[in-house]
Amino acid sequence: MVTRAEIGVIGGSGFYSLLDNAEEIELSTPYGPPSDVVTVGRIGSRTVAFIPRHGRDHRFPPHRIPYRANLWALRSLGVTQVLAPSAVGSLKPEIGPGALVIPDQFVDRTSGRVQTYYDVNGAVHVSLADPYCPSGRAVAMTAAMTGGWEVVDGGTLVVIEGPRFSTRAESRWFSSNGWSIVGMTGFPEAALARELALCYTSLSLVTDHDAGVEAGEGVTHEEVLAFFGANVAKMRTLVSEAVGMLPRERSCSCGNALDGIKLPFELP
Ligand code: ADE
Repeated sequence: MVTRAEIGVIGGSGFYSLLDNAEEIELSTPYGPPSDVVTVGRIGSRTVAFIPRHGRDHRFPPHRIPYRANLWALRSLGVTQVLAPSAVGSLKPEIGPGALVIPDQFVDRTSGRVQTYYDVNGAVHVSLADPYCPSGRAVAMTAAMTGGWEVVDGGTLVVIEGPRFSTRAESRWFSSNGWSIVGMTGFPEAALARELALCYTSLSLVTDHDAGVEAGEGVTHEEVLAFFGANVAKMRTLVSEAVGMLPRERSCSCGNALDGIKLPFELP
């Protein structure tokens, strides 16, 4: 039987495995291989495919992650809904390390990342006004509240190019715009998911106060990894709970993102 999965999970910094007794699949895509072998297994009655975003040995920095290959690989397995844990910095004094933010918007401050599948043989313009899946967000909120997380419903994730962290001036500017959190991997991942008509939900774990925030002293990668690592078991539990709560039939509009659009090639 061909291996299939309904739900995809893309693990962030320090989150390199999810499933026990999983099948490891080496996939190739028109965009090269994904970040690592994809593991496919079960959580309860749901089938899940897991990809560690940075690779299991954290070999891909944020600007080098094969975002297109990762999402294409998930879709080729039959995935329709994606949960995306990641580490972020807080831009608000009241959102501290350990909080979980389920953002409802992002701002792209990356530069030069390939952000589309549709760059040959015609134009495809998907809507991205609301980049995250409303059903996935609701599930993530419920799972996080049930699990006792300090959880923030909504907010804007600003995605920087990295790999460096922000200057204090950049960070203050982000905060003054009302943006809540800052990370390096949320874009183009969310946009590419929409281009494949996948539901996409960000589970953003705050690991630090960014440099411009009152409480923020500046941040190092070691601190981010250590904090995320210390919370990875809790994050695994949250993801597993959320997987069980995701709808079997989608009622959101994410799956209709490509309706009526003439695609230049077939999707997997
Ligand atoms: N990931 C975790 N903390 C971060 C920060 N402060 N800035 C950008 N990416 C991050």
